[in-house]
Amino acid sequence: MRLSDCHNFHDFRRLAKKRLPGPIFNYIDGGSDDEVTYRRNTSAFDDCDLLPSVLKGVKNVDLSVTVMGQKLDMPVYCSPTALQRLFHYQGERAVAAAAEKYGTMFGVSSLGTVSLEEIAQQIDTPQVYQFYFHKDRGLNRAMMSRAKEAGIQVMMLTVDSITGGNRERDLRTGFSIPFRLTFGGMLQFAMKPIWGLNYITHERFRLPQLEQHIDMDGGASSIGDYFTNMLDPAMNWDDVADMVKFWDGEFCLKGIMSREDARRAVDIGCTGVIVSNHGGRQLDGSRSSFDQLAEIVDEVGDEIDVIFDSGVQRGTHVLKALSLGAKAVGIGRMYLYPLAAAGQKGVERALALMRAELERDMKLMGCTSIAQLSRENLRFRR
Ligand code: FNR
Ligand code: LAC
Repeated sequence: MRLSDCHNFHDFRRLAKKRLPGPIFNYIDGGSDDEVTYRRNTSAFDDCDLLPSVLKGVKNVDLSVTVMGQKLDMPVYCSPTALQRLFHYQGERAVAAAAEKYGTMFGVSSLGTVSLEEIAQQIDTPQVYQFYFHKDRGLNRAMMSRAKEAGIQVMMLTVDSITGGNRERDLRTGFSIPFRLTFGGMLQFAMKPIWGLNYITHERFRLPQLEQHIDMDGGASSIGDYFTNMLDPAMNWDDVADMVKFWDGEFCLKGIMSREDARRAVDIGCTGVIVSNHGGRQLDGSRSSFDQLAEIVDEVGDEIDVIFDSGVQRGTHVLKALSLGAKAVGIGRMYLYPLAAAGQKGVERALALMRAELERDMKLMGCTSIAQLSRENLRFRR
């Protein structure tokens, strides 16, 4: 199987599974607990149907949107994800370059493996910085100042990861940073020598967003320890209000699921919220973000940008979320499997397919601009 054989999410996933050591594949692929929310995230789209209009003159379709003050050529962006150079040696560089090519935005994670400064210097497309809140308030301000200096356009504070989700696949394989593999996990690495060769022949694995500030090298501290020891589970609305003021620019909260919280985000001066359950990786049994989207758009959609992620695998999923009132849609695994499968070429193919699907589906819907999508063209079955 080759990249040119990949025509959709499932094909990319299959190719990624072939190339990646099992523990890494399962880290990307998995959700928390019984993965109920993870499965619901995608199946939720099937509870409603698009209602097309015909004979509308759809020769030219404009897919551009403006979100968080950024003009994007398409309404889909690459949501920030951790550890990308483990998935493919090009890591964040590949994702950023592909996003630039398709005129869209991408996020660099606090747990990213290439520095946000390097990417900002090389790439001319809007960059989001995904942030976690540390106990050390000075550290929070230092990290934000660093991002500001680098020219980061959008600050994105993840609020659904106040503690790590229960990822049982990772417990079974021993996946952690640094690796503490179980015997079975080690065997699975031995079975993917090409991945191993690429890993050892490229630059050393690093976490540049954190290493200036935190000792991640001692071998003692894993990502789990980072979550438990460095991040502040006492973080509250007042803390975030201070951050929003300090940043003084586009600031969104990632992982808002209730209308009350969306309202509070407006009250403290946020310019956006991302309706997201972290791809089903945090609270299992929680509602899918698609099921919760309309409610949040109704509450704050006229005041700030409501953005959506979790479960997106198709252009039609994107059109359904936009029809409900989302301003843009984030993807995670939809670009991570392609990254793992083929690096930058893989991510480019995923974005090309997504753009082609969106263009085709917009024409079939009778729409020539994203603003024409509305709840009028959506029907729920129950
Ligand atoms: C993530 N996500 C994530 N989110 C975040 O705020 N900071 C992070 O470091 C990460 N890391 C991360 C790693 C991996 C492997 C995955 C799959 C996801 C969540 C991500 O930004 C996004 O919310 C979800 O991936 C969206 O769900 P889908 O598109 O993967 O279904
Ligand atoms: C994850 C964390 C890093 O989802 O956000 O794995």
